[in-house]
Amino acid sequence: MGQVTVIGSYVVDLMSRTPHLPVPGETVLGGPFQMGPGGKGGNQATAAARSGSDVTFVTKIGLDVFGEEAMRHFEREGFNVQFIKRSETDATGTALIAVDDRGENNIVIAPGACGTMKRLDVIEAETAIKKADILLIQLEISLEAIKAAIEQASIHRVPVLLNPAPYLPFPSDWLQHVTYATPNETEARGLTGVDVVDESSAQKAANFLHEKGVRVVIITLGEKGVYVSDGTSRGKFIEGFSVKAVDTTGAGDAFNGGFAHAVSSGMPVEEAVQFGQAVAALSVTKIGTAASMPSIEEIKAFLKS
Ligand code: RIB
Ligand code: NA
Repeated sequence: MGQVTVIGSYVVDLMSRTPHLPVPGETVLGGPFQMGPGGKGGNQATAAARSGSDVTFVTKIGLDVFGEEAMRHFEREGFNVQFIKRSETDATGTALIAVDDRGENNIVIAPGACGTMKRLDVIEAETAIKKADILLIQLEISLEAIKAAIEQASIHRVPVLLNPAPYLPFPSDWLQHVTYATPNETEARGLTGVDVVDESSAQKAANFLHEKGVRVVIITLGEKGVYVSDGTSRGKFIEGFSVKAVDTTGAGDAFNGGFAHAVSSGMPVEEAVQFGQAVAALSVTKIGTAASMPSIEEIKAFLKS
């Protein structure tokens, strides 16, 4: 089994359906309510594990009931939990999510314990980074922790998959050590200043990132598909699968976890992208984030159909 190490956020998702997303000052009567494991790190770890990888998850949670629930989720998914930290002072993170009738959402994240991860929390997980076939990171924890993760991966020559979500500015020399970057349109604009509207602008954004050292650029364009460029020849647009979406929250995480599993177990990039797209397509057909990640049986059946 391939080893995927994820260093990132865990928060509990508190989600309500609502007929429409509230505007400032408005209260809307919604429902039903659903609670489940979330956070980009936790969601991507879950997607990779269900796809078939051996996953080590490095995060920090509280000693509260949400932290207990998190540990139960990690154990159920078969994660290596050796490097999960429990904060004595900070609560487990939360995300307040509203999803409207069209499947659009808005989210407020209170990172809590995972937001306080330090360089040392990452250094202590060195053995998990060293043995990984891929290191999967996002931008939902402190930049200090992310920087340490990239440094460790580069010391041990472990490929890094950076999902730059949610976008925030960071030193561009980090990109030298990034093997795969998976921005969406908004994140691509943040990273490169380029508005990705068609193939030529996608290639322009990709070239910017290649020049900074990223080997493979994968721009995710939602329902429109994915643009992949490895810098050796012109990139390629890969269409996604069309499914009936009930909740798109966490679709990007499904893609990243699925892609990380596939590419680190030796699949060629294009095929690994399609694998990730299948994981994402299946995830949007179910309500919830981590809980909606498909099993390997579901993924295989979907790819055959
Ligand atoms: O990417 C989706 C995730 O972002 C949700 O699970 C929520 O926790 C937020 O962090
Ligand atoms: Na979902």
